[in-house]
Amino acid sequence: GKSGYDHYMLKEIHEQPRALRQCLSGRVDERRGEVTLSELEGLETPSAVHLVACGTSYHAALYGVQLFHSLGIPAQAFLASEYATGVPPLGDSLVVGITQSGETADTLSALREARARGARTLAVTNVVGSTAARECDYALYIRAGPEIGVAATKTFSSQLVSLNLLVEYLAGDQRSSEERRAVLQTLRDLPGRVQQVLDESMAEEVAAEYLGADGYFFIGRGLNYPVALEGALKFKEITYEHAEGFAAGELKHGTLALVTENTPVFAVVTGEDAPAKKTLGNVREVESRGAPVIAVTDDDQIERYADASLRVPSGSARVAPVLVNVQLQLVAYWVANALGRSIDKPRNLAKSVTVE
Ligand code: M6R
Repeated sequence: GKSGYDHYMLKEIHEQPRALRQCLSGRVDERRGEVTLSELEGLETPSAVHLVACGTSYHAALYGVQLFHSLGIPAQAFLASEYATGVPPLGDSLVVGITQSGETADTLSALREARARGARTLAVTNVVGSTAARECDYALYIRAGPEIGVAATKTFSSQLVSLNLLVEYLAGDQRSSEERRAVLQTLRDLPGRVQQVLDESMAEEVAAEYLGADGYFFIGRGLNYPVALEGALKFKEITYEHAEGFAAGELKHGTLALVTENTPVFAVVTGEDAPAKKTLGNVREVESRGAPVIAVTDDDQIERYADASLRVPSGSARVAPVLVNVQLQLVAYWVANALGRSIDKPRNLAKSVTVE
């Protein structure tokens, strides 16, 4: 059942702290700086990685790419439906299929194509015994628990955390034990922080304030770029309103022409480093066109530039996207709810897409 929530989606958004604890359970020893992923025994650190996925899982792949890059491992994300039409040179890349259902036809055929060319394959999936899990050489389970809502919510968060575990597991001596301990501590603290976001979110108020706009934009940079894309996808999927996500810096290369006083911009800005400063510059660009700006942020300073803000607890830039995403899930949910949409089963969509 929905345990008192009006929709499975809202229930599943609220289940995220538990889903993440399950994902981490027994896999992380933050004191010793060790990650145990028994299902990956024998998997060696790859020299390069291709990540293939669709939809929300593709956004997780884009995030994963940046984690691999932080290890010095070349990585690329591909839309699964494009991968098979022109498989890029594989070398001895590990091909990682990210698919919560393990049954998405496009992702399965990308993985089959890679296998046919001799690549090692790994499925990152929620479903034990799914086709992807059975067909790949390895399967890493994200352990989010069953997700009924068509919109992927807790499975996305669990994918991001699982990718963190995967990368730390493969890091070998690329990471000092001190670095690894710090990352693992951050992951350990994450479920509590997600709970804090859920308890304190102002997303319902923000949703009410910006109903009826012409369109909605989501911008972010670096690790926050994939969640800007994901924020927009979730928004279109369940509200049926027009939304688009962008790399913050890309906005001025065309899309800025669409920005008006009736297109709210959700600007994801976390951390205090150079990327955040640059995104602030992009915030000013949209503001000077009169667009309302909603900062999704861990920084008080940014609030001065924004018309509204959705706060996340400050801390590691690496996990901030998980926190930010919870706020964006809630905004999409509350807008869809106000519009009376069919939130758990949006029109035209299916939970798992088994045709190419
Ligand atoms: O089961 P998968 O992770 O392979 O599904 C891929 C996409 O169909 C899926 O993520 C879809 O985009 C979401 N339901 C959107 O919320």
